[in-house]
Amino acid sequence: MMTISTSTRNDIDMPLMGFGTYQLSVDQAEFCVKEAINSGFRHIDSAEGYNNEEGTGKGIQQAGISRDDLFVTTKLFPGYSQWGVPDRNYDQTIETLKKQLKQLQLEYVDLYLIHGPMSELRLEQWAALIELKKLGLTKHIGVSNYNEKRIQEIFDADLTKPEANQIEFHPLYAHVELTRFMKEHNISPIAYSSLAPLSTWRIEEGQGGEVLAEIKKESQTVIKDIAAKLNIPEAKVLLRWGLQHGYSVLTKSSKPERIRENLGTYIQFAGSVEIERESKQFITKFNICRTFSYTLDSEVFFFRS
Ligand SMILES: NC(=O)c1ccc[n+]([C@@H]2O[C@H](COP(=O)([O-])OP(=O)(O)OC[C@H]3O[C@@H](n4cnc5c(N)ncnc54)[C@H](OP(=O)(O)O)[C@@H]3O)[C@@H](O)[C@H]2O)c1
Repeated sequence: MMTISTSTRNDIDMPLMGFGTYQLSVDQAEFCVKEAINSGFRHIDSAEGYNNEEGTGKGIQQAGISRDDLFVTTKLFPGYSQWGVPDRNYDQTIETLKKQLKQLQLEYVDLYLIHGPMSELRLEQWAALIELKKLGLTKHIGVSNYNEKRIQEIFDADLTKPEANQIEFHPLYAHVELTRFMKEHNISPIAYSSLAPLSTWRIEEGQGGEVLAEIKKESQTVIKDIAAKLNIPEAKVLLRWGLQHGYSVLTKSSKPERIRENLGTYIQFAGSVEIERESKQFITKFNICRTFSYTLDSEVFFFRS
């Protein structure tokens, strides 16, 4: 049986459970990040594109724990012409992290990611991330929403390899080949939107949880069954599922009781064997390889040439 505790960290010293901040307002980010740290989260996931880093920074400060105990990730928004956001060049990428650090009230982040391979300047941006690591403004560098082809571009350019790749990962989008590829190249996998299969995922107006809702229904019955068998909440079934596939798992909630409940995924890991058995069924039956997290066509992120 797999044993995980709140102090378990992966190859880049990242605590395996992380608190996400997408779709939180500045004030919510301040409240929820403080709440998450006070509840025991030691890994916070942020991004320029979430427009709430000021709140995240305040929440971190108010929690008052030692900087060394906290792992903070943030992301560069690389630019996206279809949204009218110009591509970031090398110098702008360097300047962007400096601005983000001011918002976050931090001297450095633990991990800096390119949010997606949407920009034609992605190799130039990657070179800037390598420099940011040399400058000590980030301890580790990585990418997000990159498939094998996009990671291979970095290898082909003979540049330092990414240390992590953050992707949507749950039984309905199980990335079997990409997971194998990342393992082979020692790239730490990080899962986002692990809770996307749930009926409670992003249900507030404008959050986009209605995407592919019909398709989720059958898998929800299976998740419910496993949760009932193990006597744990459905969210924990999915978070454990990600952990059991070797991923660090991010989860977001605006509600203190859920923040605490989700972190509890670490605890009482007994019963994980059953999820392992069921996971084969999840993958073969439900993996439709489609994104729930973006209303955009995932081809934009993964396969643009
Ligand atoms: N790199 C990328 O492109 C990318 C994309 C998406 C997300 N991310 C990161 O990954 C993080 C996690 O992804 P996510 O935001 O989709 O979060 P998630 O944890 O997969 O799902 C959050 C949703 O589930 C609900 N929820 C949370 N805990 C629950 C529980 N115990 N039971 C039932 N429902 C629950 C939340 O509602 P309430 O808030 O109302 O509790 C919210 O609607 C993000 O916040 C962000 O930091 C990265």
